[in-house]
Amino acid sequence: MSVDITKVKYLPELRSVAELAEEIWNECFQGIISQEQIDYMVEKFQSLEAMCDQVEKQNYQYLAVRDGGELCGYIAVKPEEDDRFFLSKLYLRADKRGQGIARTMLERVFQEARNAGKKSVYLTVNKHNDRAVAVYKKIGFELTDSVVTDIGSGFVMDDYIFTYVL
Ligand SMILES: CC(C)(COP(=O)(O)OP(=O)(O)OC[C@H]1O[C@@H](n2cnc3c(N)ncnc32)[C@H](O)[C@@H]1OP(=O)(O)O)[C@@H](O)C(=O)NCCC(=O)NCCS
Repeated sequence: MSVDITKVKYLPELRSVAELAEEIWNECFQGIISQEQIDYMVEKFQSLEAMCDQVEKQNYQYLAVRDGGELCGYIAVKPEEDDRFFLSKLYLRADKRGQGIARTMLERVFQEARNAGKKSVYLTVNKHNDRAVAVYKKIGFELTDSVVTDIGSGFVMDDYIFTYVL
């Protein structure tokens, strides 16, 4: 494993991440939410247009994850106004899971949060996303709340909130 995590700075790379996001979301949310909701959420949150808006206007930063030079995952983070750091996205292609890459990704997130002077990292995760919930617990995140978010068109996100104190 030779994992490399770099900040996404240019549009062509953000486009590659958007393509990867569509592939991963269509696989990992099967059985958790409906195909209609997957399509809606990919368009709303992971289309190139949506991601450009997040980066340019909402203070998000995307990081590309490569293994042996091949793009296979991505992270999105956002520093909050207070002392928290929001881990918005943590996605790895299915064939790369179970190899310890997630821990490397999360360590990078913690480092980015420390560099930004933050005291904790928080995230939302679908209550039925069992693997991700198990991974976050194993890494040391604690369940701190839950939230149901109306995302429009009749869809909601039914999430836990997990927090890691740095
Ligand atoms: C979430 C994700 C990035 C985690 O990556 P991963 O490769 O599956 O994670 P790993 O297998 O490396 O597991 C990380 C740690 O959790 C542990 N773990 C994994 N599954 C576990 C389980 N079911 N029960 C207990 N521990 C578990 C691993 O043993 C590992 O611990 P270690 O580092 O001490 O050995 C990956 O599963 C993914 O991309 N899933 C689809 C997208 C997704 O759901 N993203 C999160 C949205 S909020």
